[in-house]
Amino acid sequence: AISRVIGRQVLDSRGNPTVEVDVVLADGATGRAAVPSGASTGANEAVERRDGDPARFHGKGVTEAVAAVNGPLAAAVTGLDAENQALVDETMIALDGTADKRRLGANAILGVSLATVKAAAAAHRQPLYRYVGGVGARLLPVPMMNIVNGGAHADNPLDFQEFMIAPVGAPTFAEAVRMGSEVFHTLRRSLASAGHSTNVGDEGGFAPDFATAEEALTFVLRAVEDSGYRPGADITICLDPASSEFYRDGVYDYAGEGRKRSVDEHIEYLVELSERFPITSIEDPMAEDDIDGWTRLTARAGDRLQLVGDDVFCTDPARLRAGIDGGYANAVLVKVNQIGTLTETIETVRTAQRAGYRVVMSHRSGETEDTTIADLAVGLDCGQIKTGSLSRSDRTAKYNQLLRIEEELGSSARYAGRAAS
Ligand code: PGA
Ligand code: ZN
Repeated sequence: AISRVIGRQVLDSRGNPTVEVDVVLADGATGRAAVPSGASTGANEAVERRDGDPARFHGKGVTEAVAAVNGPLAAAVTGLDAENQALVDETMIALDGTADKRRLGANAILGVSLATVKAAAAAHRQPLYRYVGGVGARLLPVPMMNIVNGGAHADNPLDFQEFMIAPVGAPTFAEAVRMGSEVFHTLRRSLASAGHSTNVGDEGGFAPDFATAEEALTFVLRAVEDSGYRPGADITICLDPASSEFYRDGVYDYAGEGRKRSVDEHIEYLVELSERFPITSIEDPMAEDDIDGWTRLTARAGDRLQLVGDDVFCTDPARLRAGIDGGYANAVLVKVNQIGTLTETIETVRTAQRAGYRVVMSHRSGETEDTTIADLAVGLDCGQIKTGSLSRSDRTAKYNQLLRIEEELGSSARYAGRAAS
């Protein structure tokens, strides 16, 4: 049973405060989890609680969320069986009482939820991925590695937020990491020799002063080729335009490019890019409130492109069901802090898998050294993960954890590869 719950304020990868929680069981087993934070958040995400005191951390302190952990949440879950994750999570949801966890804070609730499962795994002396997924958990995800950052994650004019590479042709996860790292460093050299900045953005990808997606895609494609890999066969390209960020008054406003595109023109542009470049997956190709656009793009290209819903679903099983019923998107991005408990996260993953939607486990742009999502990607058979670039320890920590998991699984490990996307 849970005997102690300890919350504290720590820093995330952007240097902003975030919540960390320790859950200690009666037998002494301990779990620790730190909560991530987004920058281009969906409108319907669970609400992270921030102090709003401008004199401290520019208003971003989380001392009230930490107090919620140490006070009411600790009181409510102490004595509960840590193996009964659903009961722990339902108890916190009921105590909060709001639909979006805004009263106690989704950051407070998620910290307790994830620390609980990690304590339960520790009590059984099981690695987290096996505690969550059982002995059958052995699928290593294809990483979508974000090597060029734009949008809300960088200060360059690039309208699209993420340009990623997916080493689908690798035989193992470790080889996928090697391929990604090689392309990352090749890209660095070619940017430098073209006179571009090689500084990195929030997710560790380069953030040169590109104004158009074509320019970024051209550099990425060349870096794949120059590294000796076959575009489309060994490595494919994935995009996250994060389109909700530049959809205004019914049009897509490409401010960096200095032009607007109508919904139809935006769809045509995405389709055209996916024909000119070896693009296999586009996340948030349409804005969260452009459901009509989502439906049209899915009908047009959903048979050959993975279309991943991030903002449009917010890891919410009910919103995902609306997409499945309405025929839009064919994959879901899963961010634990968008919904705020492990139990609801698992419901979203299973809802997607039952409907034949693909699942991409995901970090946030504000991360920590916490590697829980690496284990969840394997434990929940996600098949894909996006956790940033091949730089910044907050990103590589997840890749490193997956390397350890692959090593531990030994010959039973399977790399998802092409089948994943
Ligand atoms: P965020 O961005 O974590 O800043 O919301 C990630 C994404 O849009 O996928
Ligand atoms: Zn996204």
